[in-house]
Parts: sequence; structure tokens; C-alpha cells
Amino acid sequence: MTSILPHGGKLIQRLVQGEERESLLQVAQGLQQIAINTWTISDLDLIGVGAFSPLTGFLNEDDYRSVISTMRLADGTVWSIPITLAVDAPKAEKLSLGEQVALVGDTDGIIYGTLTVESIYTVDQAEEALNVFKTNDPEHPGVKKLIERSTTYVGGSIQVLNRPEPAKFKEFYYDPAETRRLFAEKAWKTVVGFQTRNPVHRAHEYIQKSAMEIVDALFLNPLVGETKSDDVPANVRMKSYLTLLENYYPEDRAFLGVFPAAMRYAGPREAIFHAIVRKNYGCTHFIVGRDHAGVGDYYGTYEAQDIFKNFTAEELDITPLFFEHSFFCTKCGNMASSKTCPHGSEDHLTLSGTKVRGLLREGLCPPPEFTRPEVAKVLIEGMAEQVTI
Ligand code: ADX
Repeated sequence: MTSILPHGGKLIQRLVQGEERESLLQVAQGLQQIAINTWTISDLDLIGVGAFSPLTGFLNEDDYRSVISTMRLADGTVWSIPITLAVDAPKAEKLSLGEQVALVGDTDGIIYGTLTVESIYTVDQAEEALNVFKTNDPEHPGVKKLIERSTTYVGGSIQVLNRPEPAKFKEFYYDPAETRRLFAEKAWKTVVGFQTRNPVHRAHEYIQKSAMEIVDALFLNPLVGETKSDDVPANVRMKSYLTLLENYYPEDRAFLGVFPAAMRYAGPREAIFHAIVRKNYGCTHFIVGRDHAGVGDYYGTYEAQDIFKNFTAEELDITPLFFEHSFFCTKCGNMASSKTCPHGSEDHLTLSGTKVRGLLREGLCPPPEFTRPEVAKVLIEGMAEQVTI
């Protein structure tokens, strides 16, 4: 085991297996059903395997209100993103406290789990949006998702009976118990987690490798759940990560495993959430660069770093590693940040995500100082395939 404890002290485990699962599935057939979408299925599964420890279910009203206003659960444990189950009001009216319900996939009819109804409550979405996303602009992708949901939430502990089947790259799905065991087997005492929803460009590589200089290993943990439609699709990104690791990372010091959660685009609050979850996977350190989990201009460049000041090192118990905006400097002839480079922005190579996606879509490689050519090739091929599908 790595020395780091899961958030809240113990790894939650809500997967039901074997005979108990069989009988619970039987029972679940006769329960009232709540339809859940892909996003909620992934939340359910991540609660089930302990990635969201100490959560044992969807937030109850007291925890929800506390998370929204104080970034803590009702018992004071740090928790920044509400993990909730929205249920249509007419359906919620039929539910009673204490009742067990079946959580059923809305497109496949699979019973993914059960929930014991512990609270039914109505929320103010504008308040949630302003607190969590710092905006209630419906154009913000997180706010957009929020306001599409019902304003009635149902809280309660869950049990997982079936798990979502990954369509591809199944071998890169590890539960927190597995990553913890693997890190221990490799005798890694310090592991830095890296969250990304993008291909790994040179700036990402630079901050990862800067971190790797001071820890035993890197856990490259790309988010592969729901993202907004103009982000590079996860299957294309996965190929690009494999190519990059093969060509540029020491095999025994970098480990790739996916984070099958949805992207919230909640900037600072999501950075705290991302760090806590990586602690649950066994990381001791977590990288937070510029505009972590940000989108558009909603957050300041370093807000996702500043938010960590609200919490003590003991209560977070994972060490954030902060990095300044990084770039290739033509005068230095290497990757740098304003902390290490004396030159002006005219000497710095920076390209916007939109510009890079545009180049790739046209089949053009961005400069090698921005993206490794092997990675660019995979992205160009991947994007061409997506377009023709
Ligand atoms: S995120 O939404 O998943 O945070 P992204 O995949 O772009 O977005 O970033 C992954 C991590 O790298 C984040 O911690 C982000 O802050 C950091 N990062 C991305 N680009 C840079 C950069 N040029 N300089 C410093 N940090 C960066």
C-alpha cells in the first residue's frame, strides 16, 4: 500500500458480488425504478469502487447544502463538488423515505444498482451554479448540464449491482483498490496524479516530468467520461497517450489508467475534487497547472491553485504541485515558465486549443515544440476517422 490513506480514512466499497448480488438483483426487479443517464451511471460506479470516498451514495440534503455553501460535507470533511441524483418531480412524489429503489440505465434498461431513499429535496439551481461554477451563464458547459436536470434530488446510500462496460481500452480501467495495490507492488512511495481531458502536449509533458523529478512515479489519469463535444474524444486521446508513453517516458515510472468520470468544468472547485479523488486512487501528489478544469474565461488563470489555501495540508492530505503557465521558449531553446525564463512573450510559442484543433483537422502537425510529432500523427488520423464516421 502507498502510505496515503483514502479521503475520510477508509476506501468505500459498495460493489455487491456473488450470491448476494444475485438475490439483490431479484429484489431490485420488484422495486420502483429511477432512470439514470451515462453521467449518473459513472457517478454511481465511482462511488461504488471508492473513487469518491468517503461518499457512500448520492448526497443527502444536509451534505448537499453544506457542500454548496462551504465545500465540506456536513461532518466537516472537505468535499467541493455535489454528487447528486436528480429525479423528475412526479417520480420523486411516489418515493418514500427508507424505501429501496432500483437505478436503471435510461437507454439499456440495466439495473446498475439500488439506492435507499434517505432524503428528497428541492434545490435552487441558480444558487448551485453560482457556488459551484461561479456563474449561472447557461453557456457554461457545467451550468448547461445542471439546468437540464430536474430540481428535485434524491439522496441516499447505494449498492452497485452491474458496472458500465467500457467500449474500448478496458485494460486501462483500474479501481482505486487496484491502483493502490499496483503502486505498492511497484514499491512507489510517492506518486503524482495527472488529470487531463486533452491530448498531452509538450507543456503537459514538461510539468509532468518536472514533477517526476521529485516523486517515484507518474499516474497519468486522463478523464474519459462525458466531456463537451469539441474536446478530443477519449478513444483518440488514449491512442495518443500510449504513443507518447512508448516514445518519451520511462516504462517503469509512468502508469496509465483512466478516470471514467464526467468533466464538470468547475475550475477551482473541480481541482479540489480531482485532487481528493486521485488521493483515493493512491496518489500522494497532484498536479495543478494553469486554469485547471477551466473553460472559456470563467476562471482566473491560477484560481484553481489559490483555492487550495482554504484547506489545511492535513485535511486534504495530498500534496498539490502547482505549475505556472508553461511554453517552449525559442531563446532558451527549451520548455519553461515565467519562473525559469527571462524572455518576453514574443519568444514564447503558445497556441490556443482552437488553433491546434484547426491544424490537426486540416491534417497539419503543430510545431514539434508544441506537440510531439508521433502524438500529432495519432491525433490527425483520429480526427479524420471521427469526421468520416
Ligand atoms: S483539464 O481541464 O483537465 O484541467 P487540461 O487537460 O488542459 O485540462 O490540463 C491538464 C493539467 O495540465 C491541468 O492541471 C492544467 O492546469 C495543466 N496545464 C495545461 N496546459 C498547461 C500549460 N500550458 N502550462 C501549465 N499547466 C498546464
